Amino acid sequence: MFKDMGMIIGFKVSIFMLLSFFSFLCFYPLFLHAANSIKQNESIKDGSTLVSEGLKFEMGFFSFDNSSSRYVGIWYHNIPTSAYVWVANREKPIRNREGSITIKNDGNLVVLDDNNSEVWSSNISIQTKNSSVVLRNDGNLVLSDAEVGKEIWQSFEEPTDTYLPGMKVPASGGNGIEKNQNPTFWSWKSTKDPSFGNYTMSVDSDASPQIVVFEGEKRRWRSGYWDGRVFTGVPNMTGSYLFGFRLNTNDKGGRYFVYEALNNSDKIRFQIGWDGYERQLRWNEDEKEWNVLQTEPSKKCEFYNSCGGFAVCDVSHSQVCRCIQGFEPTDMNSWKNGNWSKGCKRMTPLKAETGSNSSGEDGFLVQRDLKLPDFAHLVNAVDTNECENNCLKNSSCTAYANAIGIGCMIWFGELADVQSLENYGNALNIRLADSDLGDGKKKTKIWIILAVGVGLICLGIFAWLIWRFKRKFKVSSTTCSNTNGDDQPISEPIRSKDLSAEFSGSVDLSLVGNPLSGAELSLFSFSSIVIATNNFSEENKLGQGGFGPVYKGKLPEGEQIAVKRLSKQSSQGSEEFKNEMMLIAKLQHVNLVRLLGCSIQGEEKLLVYEYMPNKSLDFFLFDPVKQTKLDWTRRFEIIEGIARGLLYLHRDSRLRIIHRDLKASNILLDENMNPKISDFGLARIFGGNQNEANTARVVGTYGYMSPEYAMEGLFSIKSDVYSFGVLLLEIVSGRKNTSFRHSYDPSLIGYAWRLWSEERVMELVDPLIRDSSPKSKAMRCIHIGMLCVQDSATHRPNMSSVLLMLESESTTLPLPSQPLVTSMRRYTDTEEFHTQQDSSYDITVSDSVVTGR
Ligand SMILES: *[C@@H]1O[C@H](CO)[C@@H](O)[C@H](O)[C@H]1NC(C)=O
Ligand SMILES: *[C@@H]1O[C@H](CO)[C@@H](O)[C@H](O)[C@H]1NC(C)=O
Ligand SMILES: *[C@@H]1O[C@H](CO)[C@@H](O)[C@H](O)[C@H]1NC(C)=O
Ligand SMILES: *[C@@H]1O[C@H](CO)[C@@H](O)[C@H](O)[C@H]1NC(C)=O
Ligand SMILES: *[C@@H]1O[C@H](CO)[C@@H](O)[C@H](O)[C@H]1NC(C)=O
Ligand SMILES: *[C@@H]1O[C@H](CO)[C@@H](O)[C@H](O)[C@H]1NC(C)=O
Repeated sequence: MFKDMGMIIGFKVSIFMLLSFFSFLCFYPLFLHAANSIKQNESIKDGSTLVSEGLKFEMGFFSFDNSSSRYVGIWYHNIPTSAYVWVANREKPIRNREGSITIKNDGNLVVLDDNNSEVWSSNISIQTKNSSVVLRNDGNLVLSDAEVGKEIWQSFEEPTDTYLPGMKVPASGGNGIEKNQNPTFWSWKSTKDPSFGNYTMSVDSDASPQIVVFEGEKRRWRSGYWDGRVFTGVPNMTGSYLFGFRLNTNDKGGRYFVYEALNNSDKIRFQIGWDGYERQLRWNEDEKEWNVLQTEPSKKCEFYNSCGGFAVCDVSHSQVCRCIQGFEPTDMNSWKNGNWSKGCKRMTPLKAETGSNSSGEDGFLVQRDLKLPDFAHLVNAVDTNECENNCLKNSSCTAYANAIGIGCMIWFGELADVQSLENYGNALNIRLADSDLGDGKKKTKIWIILAVGVGLICLGIFAWLIWRFKRKFKVSSTTCSNTNGDDQPISEPIRSKDLSAEFSGSVDLSLVGNPLSGAELSLFSFSSIVIATNNFSEENKLGQGGFGPVYKGKLPEGEQIAVKRLSKQSSQGSEEFKNEMMLIAKLQHVNLVRLLGCSIQGEEKLLVYEYMPNKSLDFFLFDPVKQTKLDWTRRFEIIEGIARGLLYLHRDSRLRIIHRDLKASNILLDENMNPKISDFGLARIFGGNQNEANTARVVGTYGYMSPEYAMEGLFSIKSDVYSFGVLLLEIVSGRKNTSFRHSYDPSLIGYAWRLWSEERVMELVDPLIRDSSPKSKAMRCIHIGMLCVQDSATHRPNMSSVLLMLESESTTLPLPSQPLVTSMRRYTDTEEFHTQQDSSYDITVSDSVVTGR
């Protein structure tokens, strides 16, 4: 019994002793030196440390294992697995425990050995009498002059091998300012030797900035160009922890990268390892270990230019290296043996280089999903055509690319370090001699042959038809009013003029430009439209919309028009269509495209609109160069204009029109960049009765369709509000909703929601205008967008409240709920990120359900 008591007491005592021992351990540094700073002429000896105010970092002397070499450095306070984020005396360890850290009389921070000789110094030339050094909670050791109140030195400006959040890495170069003279980060020699190793890492900003790891002078790895959001060559740079990079500009015009962690209490560091690999590490408090956040890059392709020039490295193929089309291995034998170092060479010299008089012109072959080659030159170009011309102008130009977020890049000479990045990379246009362009060219030739053949056959049939028709005319002298063009070939090109003359008596739609019973709508004869659009020629084609192609045309009076040739899926008869068009023509609003007239002939139905010289919004918004024309004010005006036009359709017009296909390519811009909604009312013709709440055919475009519409075919004015919300987010962010399908976030909406919930909404704003847009207004705008894209139609505001919220800054906004359906769903559409054409299409309900992740 007593024995037991004794044991219990003994146990308690030992627990007490253990506890006090642990608490002693915890506060051990505080006992020795509780401070986070030292003043001039003060010093700390080996054994005591500085601890930052928030207890995150600690500075003092350390050594490895049983070694007697002592280094001065900074590490994480209270983390058992030490990670030294900064080391002072990398090359000169102190051999015993007699060293000290102090601020000398001249104001420099120094590390002294046992003989009081300097093994390290902050080495600044300014003389100060009252400096102090502080270890801040972000891991920055800052030496300041108290007299002038200025920071004179900081460890963040002289890093070793580690990047810490908040550090500014200069990224100017290019124009010569602030180009790094020294490598920014320098690896250790081994895990236990902090002296200078073989690898360095810095920002190369000759074109768009990229991170490059060097081995001596040689490049060993690079991140790919920065596009305002990610480094384009890092495929897994999509996880949330990698999203924190930003390229900022300081007041002197120099640019720098800075990384901000999502959560300040996270312990994150980036390191250039002694083995030459760049790693991002994060402390896992539960498992008490450092996790490497990036998945290991594919070893085969990560080494710089591992396949040599003009070759593509592709890990998904058994043959890792392949020559770009039009190129062949420089040394076939060694290439076959797997020694790719010599790369590939051009098969047929460019005409531009040789000046040969071979028939074909040099052209460009587009290769998609690539990590763009190194050593790009940035040039100014207003669009892809001008970018291409910039390349064509110089005979040594070998490729160009017009990349979102970067702009026009061209390359001279060898294309180095090209890698295939499935679904992540950019499109590169490679210059080739005509004979090497291959398939694309051959195909067009086949098409030409086919077209000519078909044309001849058509002509034959047509001749026969005329012959038959004329005979009929002669034999029976009946009027041809009831033939009504049913036999007529519609797309006959050459003779349409004569034809209309010949038939003018019988076809009742030949009145050109006559107003119809006082309405604003004119009826045009088909033939006059054929002439105006140069027979719907390819050159006149402006684009392809959901309901058919659009052509540019010129009336005899010189007025420019846009003609929409409706696809033939509408089941409406001519009369019905005419009535419908007369109703739609009555809709007039400054933010709607004006319908001037229409034309009907047999199956063929044409709509004639006013012509908009500035094309559509997507043409500006998603073009890296034209984007710059849309500053914040302009974008806001466009958003407001669209909202007004939509409100008119929903509420103020005599008809209640649900647009059902609102998207960037349906917003046209006039010469003053005022937005005008187009294609409104067409859903009435194509989708049946607007009063029905449910339709069997879903008309619309993935990415803009509200969940209830895409999945159940239910539509209402709230489905337009949803599309408006998507459009608003696209305008503010400068990003296509569907451009997100390969990234960490499944959609723009998902991305927006994540930033919203993490209170980082400003990051959604297009980097081009982020700094110049009024923060509160931009955040308000995004807030309204988030309200519009909510899953539940009833929770979405209607257009009049949207307009009110946009225009008055005082109304308080309700909190949006998370758009689960769209933010969790990936779009499996076939719309390519890089296609410039509008690729909306009609789909049936069974096709429209998009699959989950
Ligand atoms: C200090 O800087 C001067 C010139 O700025 C340089 O010559 C000297 O080597 C540096 N000393 C140390 C210890 O780094
Ligand atoms: C150094 O600066 C601090 C803060 O400005 C001041 O309190 C102190 O008196 C100064 N000491 C000397 C020696 O100038
Ligand atoms: C660094 O380079 C030296 C000399 O080329 C070499 O012997 C050593 O193994 C290299 N170290 C590492 C870590 O690659
Ligand atoms: C940041 O992380 C800490 C600890 O992991 C957690 O308690 C806190 O809620 C996080 N803060 C935010 C804003 O996520
Ligand atoms: C590959 O070829 C180059 C040049 O012919 C040669 O210098 C190099 O040693 C070769 N590499 C291997 C691994 O054989
Ligand atoms: C082509 O570009 C290269 C590199 O910028 C330049 O050296 C050369 O003069 C240019 N040639 C012409 C014809 O513009």
